[in-house]
Amino acid sequence: MSGTTSQLQIDGKTVDMAIKTGSIGPSVIDIAKLYAQTGMFTYDPGFTSTASCESQITYIDGDEGVLLYRGYPIEQLAEHGDFLETCYLLLEGELPTAVQKADFDYRVTRHTMVHEQMARFFQGFRRDAHPMAVMVGSIGAMSAFYHDSTDISDPYQRMVASMRMIAKMPTLAAMAYKYTVGQPFVYPLNSLDYTSNFLRMCFAVPAEEYKVNPVLSRALDRIFILHADHEQNASTSTVRLAGSSGANPFACIAAGTACLWGPAHGGANEAALKMLEEIGSVDNIPKYIAKAKDKNDPFRLMGFGHRVYKNYDPRAKIMQKTTHEVLNELGIKDDPLLDVAMELERIALSDSYFIEKKLYPNIDFYSGITLKAMGFPTSMFTALFALARTVGWIAQWKEMIEDPSQRIGRPRQLYTGAPQREYTPIGRR
Ligand code: SDX
Repeated sequence: MSGTTSQLQIDGKTVDMAIKTGSIGPSVIDIAKLYAQTGMFTYDPGFTSTASCESQITYIDGDEGVLLYRGYPIEQLAEHGDFLETCYLLLEGELPTAVQKADFDYRVTRHTMVHEQMARFFQGFRRDAHPMAVMVGSIGAMSAFYHDSTDISDPYQRMVASMRMIAKMPTLAAMAYKYTVGQPFVYPLNSLDYTSNFLRMCFAVPAEEYKVNPVLSRALDRIFILHADHEQNASTSTVRLAGSSGANPFACIAAGTACLWGPAHGGANEAALKMLEEIGSVDNIPKYIAKAKDKNDPFRLMGFGHRVYKNYDPRAKIMQKTTHEVLNELGIKDDPLLDVAMELERIALSDSYFIEKKLYPNIDFYSGITLKAMGFPTSMFTALFALARTVGWIAQWKEMIEDPSQRIGRPRQLYTGAPQREYTPIGRR
């Protein structure tokens, strides 16, 4: 393998493939012409060693536990900025000036209402529908309400659709929550910041004044920053693949939301809290650790492990700190779930099985405890993840659409099914 090309020997034939180097991180071997030159495909079902695209948005170093949004460490963004600043950064590539930030906040704030008939759309769901089912349905339905921002070839319409998605996700998520608890929808209030507005839309009731707790609002805003983007994860790859066909942005975000729902992905925060509740007490931890190690037992420690992080997920560290901040603010001194979580983490991190497999807590391990303490039901956790990840999906979708070399994504396969055979009439089967 030389500096800029690699060679593959197949059946005595040498195939040269270019090596492309990024600004940081692993280089790639460009195999685009491999099939034409060899008649063979590469094989990587979980995409463990496959780069699906070139991107300038988010960088992860899984061994070092590093996460950068447009080059800025997640720790610094979470510490010093707010979620809408992170949204601007992910979309535009640079941190906003004060004027740019004020304009962006103003524009997002004034897109937070949804079409009034969306409220009637919700009436079609059962009250006990899972909020993620409602989110997938209502986000997809936005294509039926906002026809004037579905032409992806028009940069202006792409910008409007992006602002609408970022601005309306909190409103839709709050409506999904209110619908399941049988309370009236609460309209957004332009005098509130993004996350305070969301908290009020979720927890205000007409019967009394709602006062936003600034500590909780700041904590949730930071949690949104942590969830905003994460390179080419499963749901982002879903959005990119859906977008590669030219589907409108609302349909693409609905597809990403559906993928995020899975317990191996964004659904892990809901699954992790249910797991902690099932463990129940510190005394039961050894039994569950044994289950997690048992090859014949499908049980996994939810909130543990990651395809990329083979070190501590940097977001989990900030999440843990935020958990303590929120529990202190709420005067929750000894949360049994937190006790179980911290003891489970301590035991797992000293257990050779988890050390050898490099299984560390990920972002989903502590988020559930925090969100539950804030008053969100477990079923809302993934909806909050989708709310925050929408800006990442939009930024990645926009980058793909604006890439002049963009083509429809169409993977191939290794076929192991029946070779061609003749049809047998039913009387002779
Ligand atoms: C997110 O990709 C992203 O960036 C996602 C995300 C984002 O921001 O978009 O970071 C958000 O999805 C975080 C991950 C949330 N999921 C969970 O917490 C669910 C529990 N974790 C696992 O299901 C698993 O770790 C995955 C899905 C996260 C990663 O799966 P991989 O990379 O395919 O790893 P694997 O399943 O092949 O596991 C490798 C080994 C296996 O043992 P062997 O077969 O090699 O003997 O580790 C074991 C697994 O059995 N293992 C676990 C485990 N996770 C992996 N054993 C016990 N408990 C676990 N949690």
